[in-house]
This record gives sequence, structure tokens and C-alpha cells, in this order.
Amino acid sequence: MWTFVVCALLACALQQVSAATTAQESDPKFWIENGKLMLEKKSKQPLRTNQAKNVIMFLGDGMSLTTLTAARIYKGQLQNTSGESDHLSFEQFPFTGISKTYCVDSQVADSACSATAYLCGVKANIGTIGVTSKVPLGDCPLSVPDEHHVTSIMQWAQWAGKATGIVTTTRVTHASPAGTYSQIAHRDWESDEDMIVQSNGKTNLTQCEDIAKQLVTREPGRNFKVIMGGGRNNFMKKGDNSTGKRHDEDLIQNWKKDKKTRFSDKIAKYVTTRQELLETDMSQTDFVLGLFHPEHMDYRLKSDFETQPTLQEMTRNAIQLLQKEPNGFVLFVEGGLIDKAHHNTWARIALDETLEFSNAVADAVAMTSEDDTLIVVTSDHAHTMSMAGYPKRNENILGVSGTMAMDNMTYTTLSYANGPKKSYTGDDVSCHRVNVTNEDVAKKVDFSYPSLVDLDSETHGGDDVMVFARGPMSHLFTGNYEQNLIPLGMAMAAGISTNPSSTDSSSGAIAPCNSAGQTILAVLFLTFVGIIQSSL
Ligand SMILES: *[C@@H]1O[C@H](CO)[C@@H](O)[C@H](O)[C@H]1NC(C)=O
Ligand SMILES: *[C@@H]1O[C@H](CO)[C@@H](O)[C@H](O)[C@H]1NC(C)=O
Ligand SMILES: *[C@@H]1O[C@H](CO)[C@@H](O)[C@H](O)[C@H]1NC(C)=O
Ligand SMILES: *[C@@H]1O[C@H](CO)[C@@H](O)[C@H](O)[C@H]1NC(C)=O
Ligand SMILES: *[C@@H]1O[C@H](CO)[C@@H](O)[C@H](O)[C@H]1NC(C)=O
Ligand SMILES: [Zn+2]
Repeated sequence: MWTFVVCALLACALQQVSAATTAQESDPKFWIENGKLMLEKKSKQPLRTNQAKNVIMFLGDGMSLTTLTAARIYKGQLQNTSGESDHLSFEQFPFTGISKTYCVDSQVADSACSATAYLCGVKANIGTIGVTSKVPLGDCPLSVPDEHHVTSIMQWAQWAGKATGIVTTTRVTHASPAGTYSQIAHRDWESDEDMIVQSNGKTNLTQCEDIAKQLVTREPGRNFKVIMGGGRNNFMKKGDNSTGKRHDEDLIQNWKKDKKTRFSDKIAKYVTTRQELLETDMSQTDFVLGLFHPEHMDYRLKSDFETQPTLQEMTRNAIQLLQKEPNGFVLFVEGGLIDKAHHNTWARIALDETLEFSNAVADAVAMTSEDDTLIVVTSDHAHTMSMAGYPKRNENILGVSGTMAMDNMTYTTLSYANGPKKSYTGDDVSCHRVNVTNEDVAKKVDFSYPSLVDLDSETHGGDDVMVFARGPMSHLFTGNYEQNLIPLGMAMAAGISTNPSSTDSSSGAIAPCNSAGQTILAVLFLTFVGIIQSSL
């Protein structure tokens, strides 16, 4: 059976690919030479053991391994080239690893407990942010004691005198970015209005503050030099002509006033449109608060480019602002809408958001030096999208896979284990699968790909996610490990402590190049050389 399928596939592939590619790929030299070239590059890859001045963490929300494969094919196909052999910008980083995303009380992570792991170094309960697993979801009183709080790499960076910033395409108060600055028992408590509605009298909220308020009034959020994304409503007061949600105060005014009071000689800018952002001279700006949408920002495929900056533009501006910091910076950048699109089984939009994310990483690579800037690209959790069937080479990744199912209908290459699109119609007797064709798929950008189990919203997946790293100590991120290792690895690379007082190794600092580190390096390096030699 297998032999048959493989042979059939090979035959198909040879028929399908364009002439030039077929000619090249049918010559074994093409593959051998390509492989050797790659190995030569790998064997010369230096291990950078110096300290990182800057750290940029890129988080593709819900960017599963299948999302990466499909997005790279989509990328090539947009350019009419072979997508299968294409690559996303960060897929060329020298070191990769695999992160295990489960949370303390959940096999499959949500963005909140996951953010607590990859930003604070501690696994916690689903739906909670910046608190230990002693805090059950939605329990305000238990989230109050200091010993139930954990701190993020942003706090560690500020203790070490580094500048910090966050960029996202979601509300800046959404779970992933909130992991950089908040401690809260429920991810949905983004504004004071949300707290009243969401808690529904189930917990005593007297001692808890909403996420937006924490961002503007507490450490480390109030010291962020860059805050960019959506979610303006959570900062503005309710009013006749306002979509704002707050009851207590206008947090944008609070932010401006705070910067004026504490940093009177610095320039702080509040911007709400692409134009205002692009007109701001980042080399002359010390703080920027950019809230470009009342809620989540729009998908790139649906957004108004006049009013809304892209993730790439926000990232570029954030780096320009932070780059003048003498002690370096830690920046968190989230492509947050990959996840949102997957929840709707809008595969095309999920792939397109992944491309935009890849562009933002490419800019960060171009604007920084591998000698002093560690860039880590990863995801918080997977999704249930699979890539299936035996589509021919160069077959549209968004289309049908070309073979017939038992019911004599084709099926899409991309489909989901669950989601909001009903894949079957009819009653018990006449129940049959919906007939999906390439024409249906091409009709609209938000075509919902089919799923097996009907749910309001497609769920996350529990599979491990990739980690890609480049720059000082990037080899730390190889292997298969718990997700909470990631911020500890970034802290080690930057020589910053997870404690406030000191940066020496006796008090929690994780210095690069200690003796254990060097032994591991040596072993890693020798193993690597061994593998290369034995395979050549
Ligand atoms: C790819 O081919 C399509 C259809 O022939 C064409 O409309 C499109 O402009 C091409 N794209 C590029 C980037 O060449
Ligand atoms: C809520 O907690 C506060 C502070 O601990 C307390 O003073 C108040 O009585 C509590 N309210 C209720 C309804 O339990
Ligand atoms: C709201 O906007 C309308 C139309 O611009 C204006 O007439 C009205 O006075 C505004 N109301 C308030 C409370 O500002
Ligand atoms: C599919 O087509 C084959 C060949 O025409 C036919 O024998 C079979 O009954 C069809 N199956 C269904 C489920 O219609
Ligand atoms: C599915 O739709 C296509 C295109 O409209 C059509 O050619 C095909 O016969 C349909 N298949 C079935 C089993 O209805
Ligand atoms: Zn999600």
C-alpha cells in the first residue's frame, strides 16, 4: 500500500512541477548539493557565548507547526513559485527547539497560562496570568497575596536597567501581552467594566484591578517605553460619544500625566492612526502609546491600510525607539490574529497573518545585529488545523486535495478537528458531507474550512510548538523542553537576574558562560560535529 502511494505520488509530482523545477529536482545532484551546502553552513555556525544586549521575543499566537508548513507554501504560491521549498524568515534561524505547552491544570494551553510560562518562567492554571497555580481561575482574593505573584522578563529587564516594550495586533490587554505586565486571576478582566460583567458576583473583586489599569499604573507596565496594538476601549471612559468601557477614569490621560510627572524631560507620544505613527520621529521619542483600534486590530486582509499600521510597521517603529537605549532593551512582539483566524477556521487569514508575522521578524533581523541581539520566535500553543490528503506538488494549499473520498467528493487539504463550520448536512438518513470545491474556497477570504466536531469556536491544540532562535546564546533553545524554560533562557542570555537586587549568580542571576554552561556547550558542539562528520 505504502509503496504504491509513494510511487503514485512521485509520478504525480514529476508531472506537476514546472519544467525548470522538475528538471532540477529529477537530478540527484540537486538534492545532494543542496544538502551539503546546508551542512557546510551548519558546521560553520558559530556558537555565540557572549551576553545579549537586546532580546526580542516574537510570539505567533496559535502558530502551530502545521500553520508554519502551510504558511510557507502559501507564501511561495503568492509569488507563483514552489511554496513547498520556500521558507518563512525565521525558519532560517540557526537554532530550533520544541516547547511543551501544557499548563498546571490543563493538557491544552490557553494564551494566559501559556504567557505566564513563556514570560514569567512558571506554569500556572488555564485562564490566569502572572499568578501561581495556587490561584484558581477567577479567584480574586487568592490572587492578592504577593507570594502568589510571579514576575515577567519585562520586570527582570527593568531591574537590570534595560528598556522594555510590547507590540501586538490584539488588544494590548489581551492574554499574551498581559503576560508581560499583569497579575490577574482571570484573563477576561481587561477593563473595570469586564470585571463586573465577567465575575458575575462569583468572587469578591474589592482588592483586584483590571488589566488595563495594571498596565498604566503598576510596575512594570507603567515603565514600558513602547505599547502598541489595539484595545482603546479598555482605556477610555464610557460616554455618549465614546465606545470606551471604563467607569473609573480615562487611562490614556493617566498615562500622559504619569509620563509628564515622572519623566518631565522626556517626550511621550500617544498615537491612534498609522499616519500619526509614521509621522512620529522615533529617534526623538522616549515613550509611545499607540492604540490603533477600539478592540483587536483588523486582519491584514481586511484592514484599512490608511488608518491602521501593520505589525511590521509597528515592530519597525518599536525597534527604532528602543535602539537608542544604552543598556539595551527587551521587546515582546505578538502576531495575535493567527489564533483568532484559526478559531473561525479561516485558514487563509491565519496563513496571511503568519506571513505578516514573518515580515515583522525579517525587519527585526535586518535592523539588529546577531552579535548583540537575541531573537526568539515561538508560539504559545497549537491549533487543530491539519494538512491532509495527497495533494500534488504545487497544488493550491488553500484548495481541495485532488483525490476523492469514499463519498465521491473532494476535500480540502486544510481542515480542522473542530470548529464552527458544519461539514455535514441532512438528517439522520440523508446525512452527507458538504461538497466543497476550489470555486467555493476562492470566493471569499474568510471561507470557513471544514471541521469534524461542531463547536462555536475552534479550539487550541495540545501539540508541542516550535522555537527558533538567533543571536547570543541562541543554542540554549535547542531540544525539547517545558515552555517555562524560554524566559529563563532569554534572561540567561542577557545576563539579567530573576530577582530585583543583584545580577550576580548567588542571587538568582543566570549568567551565560558559567562552567556548567560551557560543558553543555562543548558537548553540544562535539555532538553536532560528530553528526555532521558521520553523515558526510
Ligand atoms: C501569479 O500568477 C497569477 C495568475 O497567473 C497572477 O495574477 C499574479 O499576478 C502572479 N503573481 C506574481 C507575484 O507573479
Ligand atoms: C470583600 O473583601 C473586602 C476586603 O477583603 C471586605 O472588606 C468585604 O467585606 C468583602 N465583601 C464581601 C461582600 O464579602
Ligand atoms: C455627541 O456628538 C454629537 C454629534 O457630534 C453632539 O451633537 C453631542 O453634543 C455630543 N455629545 C456629547 C455628550 O459630547
Ligand atoms: C462512488 O462512485 C463509485 C463509482 O462510480 C460508485 O460505485 C459508488 O457507489 C459511489 N459511492 C457513493 C457513496 O456514491
Ligand atoms: C461537487 O461539486 C462539483 C462542482 O460543482 C460537482 O462537479 C460535483 O459533481 C459535486 N459532487 C457531488 C458528489 O455532488
Ligand atoms: Zn486562542
